[in-house]
Formats: sequence, structure tokens, C-alpha cells
Amino acid sequence: MKKVNVGFIGLGARGHDLLRDIVLEIEHVDVVSVCDGYEDRALVGADIVKEKRGMEPACETDYRKVIDNPQVEAVVIATAWESHVEIALYAMNAGKAVAMEVGGAYNLQECWDLVDTYERTKTPFMFLENCCYGRRELMVLNMVQQGVFGEIVHCSGGYHHDLRKEISGGGENRHYRLRNYLARNAENYPTHELGPIAKVLGINHGNRMVSLTSTASKAVGLHEYIQKTRPAEDELQNAVFKQGDVVTTVIRCANGETIVLTLDTTLPRFYSRGFTIRGTKGMYEEATDSIFLDCEEDIKDDFTWLKKRCGNAESYEEKYEHPIWKQFLGDGVQGSHGGMDWLVFNAFFDALLANEPMPIDVYDAAAWMAVTALSEKSIAEGSAPVEFPDFTRGKWMK
Ligand SMILES: NC(=O)c1ccc[n+]([C@@H]2O[C@H](COP(=O)([O-])OP(=O)(O)OC[C@H]3O[C@@H](n4cnc5c(N)ncnc54)[C@H](O)[C@@H]3O)[C@@H](O)[C@H]2O)c1
Repeated sequence: MKKVNVGFIGLGARGHDLLRDIVLEIEHVDVVSVCDGYEDRALVGADIVKEKRGMEPACETDYRKVIDNPQVEAVVIATAWESHVEIALYAMNAGKAVAMEVGGAYNLQECWDLVDTYERTKTPFMFLENCCYGRRELMVLNMVQQGVFGEIVHCSGGYHHDLRKEISGGGENRHYRLRNYLARNAENYPTHELGPIAKVLGINHGNRMVSLTSTASKAVGLHEYIQKTRPAEDELQNAVFKQGDVVTTVIRCANGETIVLTLDTTLPRFYSRGFTIRGTKGMYEEATDSIFLDCEEDIKDDFTWLKKRCGNAESYEEKYEHPIWKQFLGDGVQGSHGGMDWLVFNAFFDALLANEPMPIDVYDAAAWMAVTALSEKSIAEGSAPVEFPDFTRGKWMK
């Protein structure tokens, strides 16, 4: 089988794990170059490749050298949010296929630049939204496509993840979130929940997001956490964080559906993506892993339902497991995040080798990433409605 020569850019926490546990586990991939702005991290990446494959990759601190390397055919971008687009554009212009990690856009121009550069170069581009490959997300998508929930009216989701330790440790860990939380107030990480919802609602495929409003709460969670956990002389003790603790974004879609997204990363809580789908014939809710349908059996118990049948989604697996997951379960689930990292990377490399369209393409990336830039504007203007550009230039209608 033909192999793809990969340049791997960004070897922080995520990049390190992806390189070791996913990319180097894929048989038809060789990693010929590794890169991080921090030399020590690039060297660790090179050691991982040597250890797992017995070959020595080029080791760089400048991403341009990775992309200019004639051996490199595709790049994985797992850098901090601020550099995703810049690196993707350089790679697309050089004709090197791009697999780009998730994050939001800093402005709409970045989204347009991705679309324009893709349209000009036709270089394959995929947005690595692994949650689109979550087992429940795909089962629910399958059920939506089979009409089980009727006409979909409303969806919600959130990035509910207590990141206080990661953010406040950003100095010693050289982590990008700290500077972002100090400087911005936005729905800064919308795509883990929005990606699967966009697939459910056919965004860019007969539907599109038209406008949003975003509202941010006060920002006190990090300050209290820092007071409690860091030394009295720590410079973060007096830091003023711009990022509100909870940001609520309401999106309106062209076909009349609404989406509510919640960013919730600086107060104590359990992890959840809050994936919820509401239709005329029923609902799915991730927090309770429950499916409630418009049938006598469910309706008669509506008040006692949660006590009696909460967590019943498992009983729908036999009938509605998505074909991707049926095969994955048969082959043996592997890789981090419950298998979705494995699936998203294999989807990229399989599409690349087969010269097929990417399952999460540049138009998806532009629309989903735009939420961050638009929400920042909405919050700054007192929760004012702001319009989404149509990155497909009308093609969403077909
Ligand atoms: N899909 C997922 O489930 C998931 C999970 C975690 C993180 N992520 C994404 O992965 C990315 C990295 O997250 P992380 O937690 O590893 O961050 P991190 O801060 O630990 O690592 C980012 C690395 O990128 C490097 N970098 C930044 N700009 C660079 C440039 N121009 N050239 C070369 N290297 C550069 C930094 O030096 C750093 O080592 C983020 O975009 C994040 O959103 C995705």
C-alpha cells in the first residue's frame, strides 16, 4: 500500500500523544519531519519516531522547513490556536495536504483565507474535529438520518471541562490557553460540540448558520482557584482574566433550527460535551445518555422517566450503531479519547490516499471556527446579534 510522508508540527501535550499513539500507529504513514517552536519538544518528538519506527526524522523549530522539505506530502498541525491558520495556508500554498487540529478563529479573515487558499490550490484540507467520530454522536446522527427523532428543531452542546489547573499552570507548562484567557472574552472552543451538531443539521449541506448572539458571565473562577492553589507571590495572583467563566451562544440556522453552545471551563464541574438533540419525535441527551421518544411507553412516564429509564441509550445500539462504529468495534477499538482520535486520523489518511473529498472540509472549518470571532464581537457589543458570512458562497443550498 502507498504510504504518506508526514511532517508533524506542534509537539505540546496533544501533539506528543497524537504522534505516539495515533499517527505512528497507522501503518500507511511515515513521519519524516517533526517540529515545535520549542527545541526540546521537537527533540522529544524525534525520539518518539526513532523509538517507534527506527527512522530518524528531520527535527525543526521552524514549520516552514517542514513544509519546504520535498519529502513531506502532508502535515499534521497540532500547534497552539494562534498559529493553525498561518501554518495551514503555507502548507496549502505549497501543495502539502493539511490535517489541522481544532480551535476557534481570531477573526473572519482567517476563515476566508482558509477557503480562498483551498479554492485556489485545491490542496486537501481536513479539520480534525474528533468529536464528530464519537460513538454516541455518530449513533445519534444515524438515528437523525433515519428520522427517529422527527424534524430536528433545537440542538445544544457545550465544552464543559474544568481547565483551571491547565490554564493557571500555563506559565510553567508553556501552554497557550493562559494568554488567551487573559486577553480575550469569547466562545473560544466551540467545535467539539458544534461539529457533531452541524452534521446533524446539515450545515453547509442544505442549511447554514445565519447569526448568533453570545453572552459572557463574570470572570471569577480562575482568580479564586489561583488564590487557593498558587504561592502568594505568584504573578497570577493579581491577574485580571477577560474570559468570562460561562459563555452562552445562541445560533440561528437558515432552516429555522436553533443551537445553544456553552463554554464552561473555569468553574468546578465534571466533564461533558452536553450533546443534546431535540426533534418533533424525540430527543437524545448526553448528560444522562438518554433517548426519549414520542411513544406511549415514554410519554406515560414523563415525570418519573428519569428515575426509571435514565441512561437507556445503550439499548438502541444494536439497532442504530453507526456503520463506522460497527466496523470499529469489530476490528477492535483503539486510540485515545475512546477511539475518536483513531477514527478522525484514519478518515483523513484514507480520503487522502483515495483522492476523495475530506469528510470535515475547509467550509466546515471556516463556519465552525468563525463562531469564536463572531462571539467575541457579540460579547463586546453587549450580546448583539452578528451575522455569519456564507463561506460556501451560496453552494450550501445544493
Ligand atoms: N481534538 C482534541 O481532542 C484536542 C485535545 C487537546 C488539544 N487539542 C488541540 O491541540 C492543539 C495543541 O494543544 P496542546 O494542549 O498540545 O497545546 P500546548 O500548548 O501544550 O502545545 C502547543 C505546541 O505548539 C507549539 N507551537 C505553537 N506555535 C508554533 C509554531 N508557529 N511553530 C511550531 N510550533 C508551534 C508550541 O511550542 C507548543 O509546544 C490545540 O489546537 C488544541 O485545541 C485538541
